[in-house]
Amino acid sequence: MRRRILQRPQPIASTVDLPIGGILNEERHMSDTTTLPAPSPNPVRGRLNSVFFALMAGYINQRLAGHKREIFPRTGGVVAEIGAGNGPNLRFLPPKTTVHAIEPNPYFHRRLERTAAVHGIDLTIHSVPGEAIDLDDASVDTVICTWVLCTVQDPAQVLREIHRILRPGGRLAFIEHVAAPHGTVRRIQRLVRRPWQWAFEGCHTDRDTAAAIHAAGFVSVKITEFQFRSSFVPVRTQIAGLAVR
Ligand SMILES: C[S@@+](CC[C@H](N)C(=O)[O-])C[C@H]1O[C@@H](n2cnc3c(N)ncnc32)[C@H](O)[C@@H]1O
Repeated sequence: MRRRILQRPQPIASTVDLPIGGILNEERHMSDTTTLPAPSPNPVRGRLNSVFFALMAGYINQRLAGHKREIFPRTGGVVAEIGAGNGPNLRFLPPKTTVHAIEPNPYFHRRLERTAAVHGIDLTIHSVPGEAIDLDDASVDTVICTWVLCTVQDPAQVLREIHRILRPGGRLAFIEHVAAPHGTVRRIQRLVRRPWQWAFEGCHTDRDTAAAIHAAGFVSVKITEFQFRSSFVPVRTQIAGLAVR
């Protein structure tokens, strides 16, 4: 299968500081003439996160497989996956599916490529953030996001970009851990917020991602809330669903 890694060219018209978990101040689209600097993950935590998620992939997939099978495309098409990580979602796609992986952390790329090869996926890695995706308007059938909108710097901007690249009728398939409504889990989420963000490169334990998706201009949004039963209490409250452009 074809595999490529795309790094955007770097002419920038205005200064934008965008490490992973950095700052994106300006709304921008592919039609803009500006481009963004490649984000720079912490070299130690960037690598550790890749190893951690590689070790945890089987466990996480075992718990989320039902949701993934329900919402991911069964017939391939053109897929963009935001924050694809090591590629734990690729096994759920039909072989030969074209996947554009928007993955700004280069420490994930080697494992991502290997996973794509194992599952016969036609992969192109885009080393850019979800806030500034280098794909054309209406060029994608499905966007996949799992455990990513918790981590990106600007979820509303990422959702604008997802909406832009999806064709009319195209679908965003998502699974995200979110703020618990109240009680002990919510208190734990608040308690661990800072160390968690540090360890997991910007991951927020308590985002209201359902509200962000509802506000993103999709024609229909279907969301199921569920509990991720594990000892990782801060990510216990989860949502899965589909939003149609
Ligand atoms: C918790 S991991 C989830 C990886 C994978 N989606 C999964 O389900 O295992 C979060 C991912 O989001 C990526 N990420 C962080 N900031 C991002 C951004 N601004 N745009 C796109 N991806 C980002 C990270 O590099 C990492 O791969």
